[in-house]
Amino acid sequence: MLTTDICEVEFRNPLMLAAGIMGSNASSMNWILKSGAAGVVSKSFSLNPHPGYVNPTTVAVDGGIINAIGLSNPGVWNFKEELAKINRRGNVVIASIYGATPDEFAALVGEVQGLVDMIELNISCPHAMDGYGASIGQSCDLSHTIVSAAKDASDVPIIAKLTPNVTDICEIAVTCEDAGADALSLINTLGPGMKINIDVAKPVLSNRFGGMSGKAIKPIAVSNVYSVFEAVDIPLIGVGGIYSFEDVVEFIFAGARAVQIGTAIMDEGVEVFSKINQDLEKFMIEKGYDSIDEMVGIAHD
Ligand SMILES: Cc1cc2nc3c(=O)[nH]c(=O)nc-3n(C[C@H](O)[C@H](O)[C@H](O)COP(=O)(O)O)c2cc1C
Repeated sequence: MLTTDICEVEFRNPLMLAAGIMGSNASSMNWILKSGAAGVVSKSFSLNPHPGYVNPTTVAVDGGIINAIGLSNPGVWNFKEELAKINRRGNVVIASIYGATPDEFAALVGEVQGLVDMIELNISCPHAMDGYGASIGQSCDLSHTIVSAAKDASDVPIIAKLTPNVTDICEIAVTCEDAGADALSLINTLGPGMKINIDVAKPVLSNRFGGMSGKAIKPIAVSNVYSVFEAVDIPLIGVGGIYSFEDVVEFIFAGARAVQIGTAIMDEGVEVFSKINQDLEKFMIEKGYDSIDEMVGIAHD
């Protein structure tokens, strides 16, 4: 009843882990899969190791958290060892990659595609160093170049992850679809946001600015999914502030075929996946829905 599919990749339920939360090593991703997620997206990694920003890199605020981790990662050659240890039996494994140039993205795709079911392009991190992250996803030209390069290099479906920090997210979504993206995930963190420590009169985060995630961003994420659903024909993955089955249903009704969960894990623990699956199934039985497929996009006229 809970099964869904994206680009012919089967998911036993619509829940997966969002990039950047508990996705740095195989043991935590296997734990998430055992806890009820049908798929995991790894932490975003690059060709070479990257230290990221110094602490503090996250701060709690009303309605969520602000983070500026700075895409710290051990580089693709170390990360491949972790990807190889993820239990793929009955599970979907997605690698999240980032780079600064088309060649870097293509090289990363070549390195990891044999180890995963799909690849998500992080072109949307709001606190990445210059030339990475959202500076790509805020430009139609750059998004097109990067998505095309990744797609040309890939044998597995390519997901472009979009930033909400643009004037018109539909324009970028259509550009990514035209460039060959097989699916879209949305949204990455919102912002930039800031929290100031009033005792020392300074921003809390070492990077000063960060991306906002958690409950407060959900209405924006739902509205972005709703709008993009009307603009493209490729499947959508919803992400942003999902804590409950009601949240998942909203995203599906707006047009998502699956969802990702990040910040809620920090508040609710890994149990959030099995709880949502149970509640979602109960809701579907009560309301007479037989499949996720028949629920996708029904909030549209
Ligand atoms: C601590 C933290 C680290 C993150 N790291 C990444 C990352 O490496 N790559 C990425 O594409 N998104 C990253 N994100 C964004 C999440 O994947 C997600 O898009 C966003 O947090 C909204 O979902 P949520 O409200 O369920 O957390 C990160 C978010 C948080 C809170």
